[in-house]
Amino acid sequence: MTLFLLDYRLFFPATQRNKIFIGDVLSKIPLKKGFVLEIGSGSGQHGVEFQKRFPDIIWQTSDPKLEYRKSIISWIEHENLNTKMPEPLEIDVTKSPWPIPFKLVDNLQAIISINMIHIAHWECTKSLFKESSKLLNYGKFIILYGPFKIEDKHVSKSNEAFDKSLKIQNHDWGVRNLEEVNKEAIINGFRQKELIEMPTNNLILIYEKVS
Ligand SMILES: C[S@@+](CC[C@H](N)C(=O)[O-])C[C@H]1O[C@@H](n2cnc3c(N)ncnc32)[C@H](O)[C@@H]1O
Repeated sequence: MTLFLLDYRLFFPATQRNKIFIGDVLSKIPLKKGFVLEIGSGSGQHGVEFQKRFPDIIWQTSDPKLEYRKSIISWIEHENLNTKMPEPLEIDVTKSPWPIPFKLVDNLQAIISINMIHIAHWECTKSLFKESSKLLNYGKFIILYGPFKIEDKHVSKSNEAFDKSLKIQNHDWGVRNLEEVNKEAIINGFRQKELIEMPTNNLILIYEKVS
């Protein structure tokens, strides 16, 4: 019998570049043992990197796209993480309730979304906070990474050009305004705990559940 091993791994160069910097920030967040839920995991490169780097955490990836979920599964197999990492969940942030296993909800430490909210409709940002608020207990975190406008102004020419290119692809996409993102956080019971400047004009925003 011939055995075919199918490899669906996708490779995003930007993800490969930023995973170490993002991991360095995550290493400073006081995450207890339990799950981290990643929304919009894409290829899965971040997921396997963070699973290897933070063995006390179970890294739960997710993505609405089958192509990406297949890539994530292939990355998990490639890195021999099958016994540690669960398969990706099919989560579209706008479809409530998110299909989350009970054991994950009981031990959820943080929800993270990297480079998602500007490549999705604004409704996705609103849903991300609304649904996360139902799942995260007091003191737990939402972590966002990506480019942001501050007081409705781009922080660099390259972010401005990127924003234009996003809007050409889809009118509803675009670099989000920090103050509007913060407003959604507050409405849903979070406070901005930290803002960390990252390479290439990106930010990491850490929100803590406070009510
Ligand atoms: C630019 S990719 C980023 C992928 C990955 N986080 C990374 O940084 O390499 C944007 C991701 O957001 C996901 N996404 C788009 N709309 C979404 C939605 N409504 N709910 C959840 N994820 C969504 C896409 O499927 C894609 O994986």
